[in-house]
Amino acid sequence: MNFNIVSLPGDGIGPEVSAAVPVILRKIGELFGHEFQLNEHLIGGAAIDSCGQALPSETLQACKNADAVFLAAIGGPKWDDGDIRPEQGLLKLRSELEVFANIRPLTVYETLKPFSPLKPEILEGTDFIVVRELTGGIYFGKKNREANFASDECRYSINEVQRIARVGFELAKQRNRKLTSVDKANVLESSKLWREVVTRIGEQEYPEVELHHQLVDSCAMKLIQTPSEFDVVLTENMFGDILSDEASVLAGSMGLLASSSVGSRYGLFEPIHGSAPDIAGQGIANPYATILSIAMMLRWLKLSTEADSLEQAVSASIENGVLTVDLKPYSQVTTQQVIQTVADNLTKIVGSIDSSRSARNQPLVKPVEQSPQVACAGEA
Ligand code: IPM
Ligand code: MN
Repeated sequence: MNFNIVSLPGDGIGPEVSAAVPVILRKIGELFGHEFQLNEHLIGGAAIDSCGQALPSETLQACKNADAVFLAAIGGPKWDDGDIRPEQGLLKLRSELEVFANIRPLTVYETLKPFSPLKPEILEGTDFIVVRELTGGIYFGKKNREANFASDECRYSINEVQRIARVGFELAKQRNRKLTSVDKANVLESSKLWREVVTRIGEQEYPEVELHHQLVDSCAMKLIQTPSEFDVVLTENMFGDILSDEASVLAGSMGLLASSSVGSRYGLFEPIHGSAPDIAGQGIANPYATILSIAMMLRWLKLSTEADSLEQAVSASIENGVLTVDLKPYSQVTTQQVIQTVADNLTKIVGSIDSSRSARNQPLVKPVEQSPQVACAGEA
């Protein structure tokens, strides 16, 4: 099959980890007979520097025309004091693509348990998914700034809560049928609405799913105290941002967590880590979250065998100790070496599950066609 993929490397370590995208897609294409047309575009600080906009209209248009979009990371201190912030580009992209459901799975790899800040017995059995509402709430409410005060409105409609609740319940149904909805219903009106709507959807549509409501402050505590009790964590935009960063370190490093952001039409796939300007340019950034985000993208494109193989290739590299310095003290392993190891593992894994096919068929070598980053002229 043919796919048109947009990659947005962004800022800081973004371009370094994005180097995985052509390598992995080329390998998947070769092994499974697909053709990936890959185009890179500007976003965030890189776009502000080139054309004064965080989300140029060319980038947005290319994303809307693509089958799927990968975004690495945006932002950095360089743009802290400017009129336009790189983050505005990402928020606008999420909103324009209407990717309201952000799915952040937490996988704990056996070998990496020693790198978790938690004791192994507490971590045992931890495996949950954070489902974060991504296009509403305080991120997108009315903002006001006057001489002596500032405000940000947190607003949710019933429809916005219903659609994200269904995503959470559907995932819970496929897993251990336990959904924890996180809010601050003891204080916030928007959370009271959230709780009522989630309760109703649960009762009417998903009676087989065990629904728990938890206040966000106590959830932050429980994630550390009893992480294995969670299955699907459903929450609003800002709580999800905070809790997913907290959850990510349970696995050993933030550099491992992937995410997908989906709506009724588009799919945007991002590692959950930031642009890490402190280590940018050194070639030591951890690319696993990027590679796992590509696996989520493949699954969303209905290439589930391909996605499974890629996840296996990642597990094999991790279990073999191919780790960057965030996970292994004094490690000299570079971003490029991790990427190459995963690609080599893919060849071995797919070769062994399907050696008969390559013997029967023509070699399936289809290059990833990559065009240079397109410059920009206007704002999206
Ligand atoms: C994330 C990031 C973004 C967010 C920033 C960069 C706007 O922290 O994807 O979690 O807050 O959503
Ligand atoms: Mn975040």
